[in-house]
Amino acid sequence: MNTRPIPILSWAYRPSSLREVLRSPSAFLLKLSCATSDIGQFRAGPVHIICVNHPEWIYAILVEKATSFRKMPAVRTLHVLTGEGLLVSDGPTWVKHRRLAAPAFHQRRILSYQDIVIRSAKEALARWRDGEVIDLEHEMKRLTLTIVGRALFSRDLNEIVSGLSQDIDTALEYVNGLSSRVTLPLIGPLARRNRAALAAIARVDAAVRNLIAERRRQPQGEHTDFLGMLLAAQTEDGQALTDEEVRDEVLTMFVAGHETVATVLTWLFYLVAQRPDVRSRLEEEAQQAGDADLVAAPRPYTLQVYKEAMRLYPGGFTIGRQAIRDVQIGDWIIPAGAWVMISPYSVHRNPRIFPDPERFDPERFVPQNEQKLPRAAYIPFGIGPRACIGGQFAIMEGQLVVSTFARYIRLALVNTSPVGISPQITLRPDRKIEMRVEKLGRERA
Ligand code: HEM
Repeated sequence: MNTRPIPILSWAYRPSSLREVLRSPSAFLLKLSCATSDIGQFRAGPVHIICVNHPEWIYAILVEKATSFRKMPAVRTLHVLTGEGLLVSDGPTWVKHRRLAAPAFHQRRILSYQDIVIRSAKEALARWRDGEVIDLEHEMKRLTLTIVGRALFSRDLNEIVSGLSQDIDTALEYVNGLSSRVTLPLIGPLARRNRAALAAIARVDAAVRNLIAERRRQPQGEHTDFLGMLLAAQTEDGQALTDEEVRDEVLTMFVAGHETVATVLTWLFYLVAQRPDVRSRLEEEAQQAGDADLVAAPRPYTLQVYKEAMRLYPGGFTIGRQAIRDVQIGDWIIPAGAWVMISPYSVHRNPRIFPDPERFDPERFVPQNEQKLPRAAYIPFGIGPRACIGGQFAIMEGQLVVSTFARYIRLALVNTSPVGISPQITLRPDRKIEMRVEKLGRERA
């Protein structure tokens, strides 16, 4: 085969890079991706990371040659929280569980969750007073945890365990530390055994086990939600899932299904607060749609805004794989064992595909513009067999939350200085974003 050596990311070997790694391994990894043109590699001892930004090669890795890769070992650190759930498992376990979970995310099912989203968003609005200052990210996490709990488990998780969202947060920060240590074993800072995080994981675990035990006591078939489906599910050989397996999938949905959407919504309201023109169009569309669902009243502009927010700030910061064997991608060989990092954050900032990439411009997602995007150039939900199972859910949820808020309130930035990113498992803001709630007149409420 005719191949070329993958360019080396030489800036990463400067002494200052070590300081960067020690300060924030995740930020360093993201910088590796962003400093890569189409493909680049970084080697340090046992570490061999290949960053890929070119859509064609991303498509080859995640779709065409997906079976030559498995999840990157750093992703497996999530195991301490989600066990062998869908996010981390590979091989036959993943195939079996993905099949079992799929019906909960069919289009018809997703549409049946719309009322829950609107009701939950309205409850958040009712909680906030006119003029009140809210911690946006915190409030979005509370809201999305409520929604995922009601939709998939028929329970308000915030009611069952106060502080569940905070506990998941603490656990994810810990996992992020572990994952950096696995990715950069020689140079990454040691992940300290963190008692607070382990206690948080134990509380989350206990909450989920209680949820399962409570449901087991109820007559079978009483609930047709995701949890009911998992408990009633039988594999092809007639076996039911064990409580352990059910626990892993429930926790996976908590983790994957709430922080990602909350992060995207946080960035969206931050972006919209700086663009009165976008806000007016959102408000106009929301007034026209009223409380109708997305089938009765589609919200095309809201969808464009949501997609553009996910372009600039995709929920997750990286999609990681490890090559199982030598794989040829374009002119390059990805050697067996190498880790591949694909960062939607960096892919979505390619100026050849998204001119003036830092500009927040929902017009990029007018259907005729979106159709022209090369495949795998826009990948907030990944692509291929391991693509996000909850993508359609997240799109429905995001549109309805934004539209419900736009009907009744405006969110104004308290501090207008720019907000940076703090890459963890998701792309969090690097500081608290406070918003003042402005209720929009009695006749509209
Ligand atoms: C805006 C919100 C969301 C974003 C940006 C997002 C992003 C992603 C991405 C990029 C992946 C693929 C990772 C890979 O290929 O390695 C993924 C997988 C996954 N997501 Fe999401 N997600 C979102 C919302 C959700 C929701 C709402 C749920 C469930 C309720 C969910 C559940 C999952 C699960 C279970 C997987 C693993 C799928 C598998 O490997 O089979 N996600 N997500």
